[in-house]
Amino acid sequence: MTNKLAHRVAQIAPFQVMEILARAKELDASGEDVIHLEVGEPDFTAVNSVANAGMDAIQSRQTGYTSATGLAELKQAIATHYLKKYQVALNPQRIIVTPGASGALSLLASLMVNAGEQVMMPDPCYPCNRHFLIQVGAKAQLITTKVEDAFAIDLQTLANHWQGSTTGLWLASPANPSGCVLSKDYIAKAYQKVSALGGHLMVDEIYQGLVFEGEDFSALSIADDIFVINSFSKFFAMTGWRLGWIVVPEWAIEAATKLAQNFFISAPTVSQYAALQAFSDDAMAQYEHRRCELNERRKALLEGLANIGLPAAVPAQGAFYVYVDVSHITSDAKVWCLALLEAEKVALTPGADFGYHESEKYVRFAYTASVDRLHEAIKRISRFLASPV
Ligand SMILES: Cc1ncc(COP(=O)(O)O)c(C=O)c1O
Repeated sequence: MTNKLAHRVAQIAPFQVMEILARAKELDASGEDVIHLEVGEPDFTAVNSVANAGMDAIQSRQTGYTSATGLAELKQAIATHYLKKYQVALNPQRIIVTPGASGALSLLASLMVNAGEQVMMPDPCYPCNRHFLIQVGAKAQLITTKVEDAFAIDLQTLANHWQGSTTGLWLASPANPSGCVLSKDYIAKAYQKVSALGGHLMVDEIYQGLVFEGEDFSALSIADDIFVINSFSKFFAMTGWRLGWIVVPEWAIEAATKLAQNFFISAPTVSQYAALQAFSDDAMAQYEHRRCELNERRKALLEGLANIGLPAAVPAQGAFYVYVDVSHITSDAKVWCLALLEAEKVALTPGADFGYHESEKYVRFAYTASVDRLHEAIKRISRFLASPV
């Protein structure tokens, strides 16, 4: 038997944060009090009514495959959510329920990108995007962005860099790792540019609902041929339930359905029944409460960081991230993160995971810990900064 891996495996970078995470877990196991601000996962879990609906589904053995694009009731519930919260009327047939946003991104790459083509995206951005493209023989065309533009691609630069092999633009708002929120005006202009250039636009709205400054809207309110990706992982705090969705234009429904049938057969059934409860008024009230809690944490972290000379590099308007420039302290943020972890047991993610352009300057804080823990983290970082090197 051969042990030769496919060439693409070598092109897929491991997460740098894994090294930090592995060490943080070792420290946890040895009884150290580690403050975990490294993982992009809410410290909340599914609300009770959702979890109970999942248990009911198991108990009543509603555990077979669903239709490939998801339970009709769930697609209707998602469409109603868009109407109620974002004033977007949507044909539920356009919604394809997937195993997480990850499944949706993978499906989109297969749906819209040929081998040898490339898709533009800002540097920094969510790293797995690059890898979903490699999987289809394509690649990411990372566009250098400026901190003063809040890491958004300048639209003239976009036009200048567009090549014959460029097939689309993938954006995310609120963004990971920066927490920046793109304006409706920016997305509308990007849409016009990309359409004029003959490409497709995808907006990853996985952090939708977690907007503290700026407008919480859907790109679907701009045009109905923008591909929009979302998930139950973040706002709905259901990471491990592996449930997300993509909204495709009418003309792509049949093709996307065919791919979903082949790639997934269906998204997890128990999770779909559980998610049906995620849009109830009661669940929504709980999510809103959590959003307020996240905002309190965001404010505490921003203030604490500013007080110790580590202000956010760009406005942390949404998601649960603050991106900080540490280049006045270190020439390599990853080395700094590892040293901080050893000395003070605070785990952060180095910028190198999110891109190449000056990424060694940055660290990402995820405010997925209580205000008290964030205060404690600031105290420890302050002590670390004051300690002799
Ligand atoms: C911007 C972005 N997109 C997609 C994902 C994938 O999320 P999931 O597959 O859990 O829905 C993540 C996860 O952190 C993310 O940050």
